Amino acid sequence: MQYKAVRGFKDILPSQVETWNMIESEAKRLFSLFGYREIRIPVLEKAELFARGIGQDTDIVSKEMYTLTDRRGTQLAMRPEATASILRAYIENKLYAGNPVLKLFTMGPMFRYERPQKGRRRQFHQIDVEIIGDPGPRSDSELIYMIMDFFSRLGLPDLVLLINSLGCIECRGPFRAELRSYLRKHDAHLCPDCQLRVKTNPLRVFDCKVERCNQVMKDAPSMLDFLCNDCTRHFDGVKAYLEQLNVGFSVNPHLMRGLDYYTRTTFEVQTEELGAQNAVAGGGRYDLLMKDLGGPNSPAIGFAIGEERIVELIEQQGVLRERGPDLVLAPLGEEAETMAFLWLQELRKAGVSCEMEYRSLGLKAQMRHADRLDARKVLIVGEDELNKGRGILRDMSTKEQIEVSLGDVVKEIVSMKERKWT
Ligand code: HAM
Repeated sequence: MQYKAVRGFKDILPSQVETWNMIESEAKRLFSLFGYREIRIPVLEKAELFARGIGQDTDIVSKEMYTLTDRRGTQLAMRPEATASILRAYIENKLYAGNPVLKLFTMGPMFRYERPQKGRRRQFHQIDVEIIGDPGPRSDSELIYMIMDFFSRLGLPDLVLLINSLGCIECRGPFRAELRSYLRKHDAHLCPDCQLRVKTNPLRVFDCKVERCNQVMKDAPSMLDFLCNDCTRHFDGVKAYLEQLNVGFSVNPHLMRGLDYYTRTTFEVQTEELGAQNAVAGGGRYDLLMKDLGGPNSPAIGFAIGEERIVELIEQQGVLRERGPDLVLAPLGEEAETMAFLWLQELRKAGVSCEMEYRSLGLKAQMRHADRLDARKVLIVGEDELNKGRGILRDMSTKEQIEVSLGDVVKEIVSMKERKWT
């Protein structure tokens, strides 16, 4: 019997890992410039945390969560997102005791039982960023500025930024009432799920994927018409700072996001290159969630990037190519093989990535091996070269060959690499 990966779960193969590492190290570098610190949170949490945090009526909680009961009967869930877990960790570990404003990031796998398709998996990876403790619009704009800067550093400048405000509980009430009465008038055109949502949580009709519900929502009332003075001032501040920071955006009053915890600013970064799964990142402010989860009264804002989607965009654009080793050693004969085996370890110690075939092959086969590995250079050392004390260094792309002294070959190669092989 041959085993296959579970549907919607995918291996990340060695040929792709370099792109993943590049994205993650760029993220870590940039986030630390902005004062973020890394936090690592468990994959399993009590299921109730997500029901409470994300909302019982959301698709994520009601349809997509991977839940299990452990041996003691506790209902657990594999995390579908990171925000609720980060807040749980923040409260449990009293992270509020130090700095009033804490900026955190995490990265890792999330799990949602969705129908797998291009850009959508059941296990996917997020880079998640949160600012906890600051209520003002500067944090919103700085966070959005950072994410757009991140994408342009990755060579992905053509992404679209949509922003909206969902108001606070005060202005959301009248909006919800207006929306409900609008939806009641169109009840017959809504799918059965949305007919139920009209009663339980009408805002969730905005994220329904059924076409006839989308049609109804096109003329739905806009949250922006219901914002109170404070929420209007906040949203105006976010927009003004974004303009000053030269971040292009468009306001989309129907951008609701699929999680219940948002208040005020929400945003999504979209691409036209990936088909239906066009959101590469999304986030927003969630000023009430911390209190809801039993913590202090701390406002917060954050976002998460879908790593698979970024990898796909980078691969589509061919921005990165997998690189082979710096050097392959091609010794011929036992004496040269033994010397090369020792040089190999010394070169690696000195930071030169190198490989060697251990099967005593002829020169042609060793060159084929170097080609397959996509090596930059090959050092050829046969009996003649040993006698002369000079090896042949061949450049695999230009085919140019030069002689190098074997007396201190490790030092020589290290210094050539430092001079970028010139
Ligand atoms: P989200 O919009 O549910 O937000 O997910 C953020 C990103 O994760 C999406 O824009 C998408 O790129 C990626 N993503 C989501 N589901 C999948 C999937 N099944 N397959 C591949 N990629 C996927 C959140 O999760 C919030 N926690 C973001 C946040 C942080 N809000 C505040 N802080």
